[in-house]
Amino acid sequence: MSNELPPKPHLIRVWDPGVRLFHWLLVVAIALAFLSSEEDSAFSAWHIPIGWIAALLIAFRLVWGFVGGEHARFANFIRPSKIGPHIRHLLSGKATPSIGHNPLGALAVLALLALTSATIVTGVAGGEGAHELIAYALLALVGVHVAAVLVMSHLAKDNLLLAMVTGKKHADRYPDAHDAAPPASLAVPVAALAVGAAAFGATRIDPQAFAPHASAESNEAGERDGGEHGRDGDRDED
Ligand code: HEM
Ligand code: HEM
Repeated sequence: MSNELPPKPHLIRVWDPGVRLFHWLLVVAIALAFLSSEEDSAFSAWHIPIGWIAALLIAFRLVWGFVGGEHARFANFIRPSKIGPHIRHLLSGKATPSIGHNPLGALAVLALLALTSATIVTGVAGGEGAHELIAYALLALVGVHVAAVLVMSHLAKDNLLLAMVTGKKHADRYPDAHDAAPPASLAVPVAALAVGAAAFGATRIDPQAFAPHASAESNEAGERDGGEHGRDGDRDED
């Protein structure tokens, strides 16, 4: 855009591979969960397994919040006392870009994780009305999240979406730029163990958790009144 050659950007490590993989897998899982949620969807039998996979992703992220890299750790980005000053700076148009999550973004992160969890829990519990309501609230929050990412990218003059892909940000845009501390040395085995335990737990609740559920077809053939027929139908198979 400008005629002069800009200095070569110095890139710093921000998001570890665990956070990035988690983020984009969660986006895919939630997109597929919505696409499969209608009874007449071509792959409605996959709605429940996809939901359980989202549950495994949440289990991963909860553990990664303690053993992951610097900006993945809850202790490093949950800073309630900084939210007020951050909003004031935003309103005055002078927000200082944060390397990791900004104080307000951290709230959105927690809300996204909480709403995804609540969607899963109500789905598992079979409370269809609450499940659908919370799922749409999640969708609305995702809309706010994406809008905020675009606004903050503009304010920070950095492409935050790309940073969530490559894990890197431009050092010259951030006052306290430094390479993030990497995950703990045992982070990967610990997280794998947690995901394994969650998968085991899932199959204790629903032995067919990761298999296509015939629920949609049986619902279609039958009635919509109870709402629980599909899930009960699956249980009858074993
Ligand atoms: C992030 C995860 C999830 C999302 C975003 C999601 C979203 C939705 C939505 C939007 C509906 C309403 C469909 C309609 O318009 O009627 C729905 C229905 C349903 N969901 Fe989920 N869901 C998720 C996870 C789960 C899980 C983990 C389970 C169960 C283990 C589950 C079980 C169901 C059932 C049984 C229905 C009723 C479907 C039917 O009547 O055929 N969902 N879900
Ligand atoms: C289903 C949709 C989505 C969900 C549930 C979701 C959820 C999340 C969560 C939980 C985080 C925190 C990351 C972590 O520390 O683990 C996050 C961060 C982020 N997401 Fe998403 N996201 C979604 C869609 C998107 C999309 C479509 C984009 C692209 C515009 C995006 C861009 C980002 C970026 C750039 C960050 C880092 C924010 C920052 O710099 O503080 N997300 N998202």
